[in-house]
Amino acid sequence: MFRDLVDGLDSHSTEPGKLLDVPFVPTDEDVIEAMLNLGEVGPKDVLYDLGSGDGRILITAAKKRGTHGIGVEIDPLRIADAMDEAGRNRLEYLVDFIEEDIFTVDFSAATVVTLYLLESINVQLRPRLLSELHPGTRIISHAFGMGDWKADEQLELRGGNLRGISIYKWIVPAQVAGVWEWDDLNNQRYRVALRQQYQAITGSAWLADKAMNLKYAKLCGNRLELEIQDGKTAALNTFTLIFKNNELQSVLEDA
Ligand SMILES: C[S@@+](CC[C@H](N)C(=O)[O-])C[C@H]1O[C@@H](n2cnc3c(N)ncnc32)[C@H](O)[C@@H]1O
Repeated sequence: MFRDLVDGLDSHSTEPGKLLDVPFVPTDEDVIEAMLNLGEVGPKDVLYDLGSGDGRILITAAKKRGTHGIGVEIDPLRIADAMDEAGRNRLEYLVDFIEEDIFTVDFSAATVVTLYLLESINVQLRPRLLSELHPGTRIISHAFGMGDWKADEQLELRGGNLRGISIYKWIVPAQVAGVWEWDDLNNQRYRVALRQQYQAITGSAWLADKAMNLKYAKLCGNRLELEIQDGKTAALNTFTLIFKNNELQSVLEDA
């Protein structure tokens, strides 16, 4: 249970002299199922479990969903256990376990990342999760938040020994802060100046040089929905802006 993690029951690696940032406490099968559901994990995903322990999250995802998984674990004995279990299940072709530190490993190929670490460790990883994962990558955490980066979804698990356990989901946002311009279908020029804190977007809008009301902005991965209004009563103009490589790539307009 996550209490064991918070209390730091045993932070020693099975390798003498090596200390772990987080002790080994495995995630229950029911929680794994809920995490994979929340992450909508499927056969096309590349799932990284940072601090993969005995590999159970990845082995379950591979067995039940055909997901390709990479486990990152600093304790060699846990890696050996995970490899053995993958072998017993004949899943070596789908999962791999690498003996590396979560703070230095390259996890940029992930489409989903799972974490069962501590909030303080999540916060330390946060800048790299935000800058190195592709926009749209899902991050699922068992029991722990990520400081002031509010989750896109939080689920309280219920029933039996799941009571009181929360799981969290973040979708890595594209970097969209800045000034962007585009022409609508009537060749009218729109401009927005956007501020960003994680996935939360605020800002100002103009049509030609006239100030407009930026009524609503919602960022999900690289897709930003905007509602722009002339004053407070006129009809809303709705746009979907797609960002790639920190640039505005296309604009879809509601008729
Ligand atoms: C709470 S366990 C979670 C295991 C697995 N993810 C699960 O949910 O069943 C945390 C794991 O992180 C590993 N770990 C701790 N510090 C690490 C580090 N700096 N780099 C890689 N793994 C680490 C521990 O050895 C442990 O197996």
